Amino acid sequence: MTLGAILNAMRDPAGVPGAPGLFEALFVGTWVFHIAFVLLTLGACALAVAGFLLRERSAHWMRLSTSMTGVAKIGVSLLIVLGVAPLLFTQVIYDPQWYASNVLSASWALGFIATLIVGYCLWFAFYSKNEEAAKRPVVLYAVAALAIFLFDGLIMHALIYQSLLPERWMDWYAPGGVVDTSGARLHAIQWSRYLFIISLSAPAVGLFLLAYADYFATRSDIDPAYLTFARTLGRKVCVFGSPVSLMLLLWWMSDLPSDSRLVAHPLGWLLAISLAALAWLVATKSAPGRGYALLASGVALLLLLSAWREVIRVAVLAPLGYSIDDYKVNVDWPSAILFATTLVGVGGLVGGFYLTVCYQAGRVRGLYTAGVGVARLSSAAVAILIVWIATFFTYGAAIWVKNVFLP
Ligand code: HEM
Repeated sequence: MTLGAILNAMRDPAGVPGAPGLFEALFVGTWVFHIAFVLLTLGACALAVAGFLLRERSAHWMRLSTSMTGVAKIGVSLLIVLGVAPLLFTQVIYDPQWYASNVLSASWALGFIATLIVGYCLWFAFYSKNEEAAKRPVVLYAVAALAIFLFDGLIMHALIYQSLLPERWMDWYAPGGVVDTSGARLHAIQWSRYLFIISLSAPAVGLFLLAYADYFATRSDIDPAYLTFARTLGRKVCVFGSPVSLMLLLWWMSDLPSDSRLVAHPLGWLLAISLAALAWLVATKSAPGRGYALLASGVALLLLLSAWREVIRVAVLAPLGYSIDDYKVNVDWPSAILFATTLVGVGGLVGGFYLTVCYQAGRVRGLYTAGVGVARLSSAAVAILIVWIATFFTYGAAIWVKNVFLP
């Protein structure tokens, strides 16, 4: 039996409920939001620590540290929530690879959750103590939390990288012919790939600071000197961090499988050129008012990265005889319609409502009063939630009645 036949036999016999390309596009698209918050969180954690340690230099550092501690606190919850969507999509089209890799390192896959909880608790401990009068050792909570988050990223990376190496699974499963079911090892790490992705935290948090300075520019209670400090720091972190990322990207490119022709693929080079171009834009065109546009360019760069990861996966698995295009398709229209309407209705209206309220409320000093438009949006969000819950349960009940009571 060939490896491709084994991989295809491990697929879900029920098939996929729609065109595989659609799930691939959703996978690539939704991962951008996950990694955006991963990078923002890691960058914010690092700045929170730096700000705390440098707080004696100026009040701006302390203020930045407090602010970035809050950003990271929310960032962790968002990166977790936003990790779910790509997780579901990769399990739909790459289920043989994902599950095999998770079982081969099962202890780590489970330990990932436990360590993430510990890391998040440590971050909250730092959050509750991070103030002017706090003693220096308090920072150890933050350093430990950051180390755990980085380690969790490494576990995530190893699970993905192992899933791209099916030809080595048997060696890991039964080294020397003896079956090892402990799942106690991380079997493969590609440092160039992991370090490159993680290094993007510097440009990411730099771009965030540029947008942050623009966002708070309307607040009369925030010292403009602090915002200038944040903008200058953001520019520096981005401009000095990008070349490091570029070097790591070139290392990753040189580390790709030599027989896959990936090194010559235009997408990898486009990613490298875009990274250099973004650093140049930030260095020369980051005057006040351009923060949002630059941040959006950073998100576009992450879309390139996401697509590049997928190009690598396709190129590596194709020679083994695995392609998502030949996955059995069993279209399930009710689920597809429920999914699409939930995404647009609940995601668009409820998510849009929260985002609008948060955006507007943060720009006002003191009490925020919602305008007519936001009030309408909130009514629409509540209405759509009621419709959604009613549809969800009615549909489930109808299927249950059909299965249990009808012949
Ligand atoms: C601190 C916590 C986390 C960090 C630092 C982190 C970091 C990363 C990194 C660096 C990658 C890309 C690795 C690579 O391509 O080599 C990745 C991919 C991914 N992460 Fe996370 N992650 C975290 C938590 C989570 C959580 C909680 C979920 C799920 C709810 C999640 C879901 C995913 C998925 C689905 C992928 C892509 C999988 C694939 O390519 O097949 N991550 N993460």
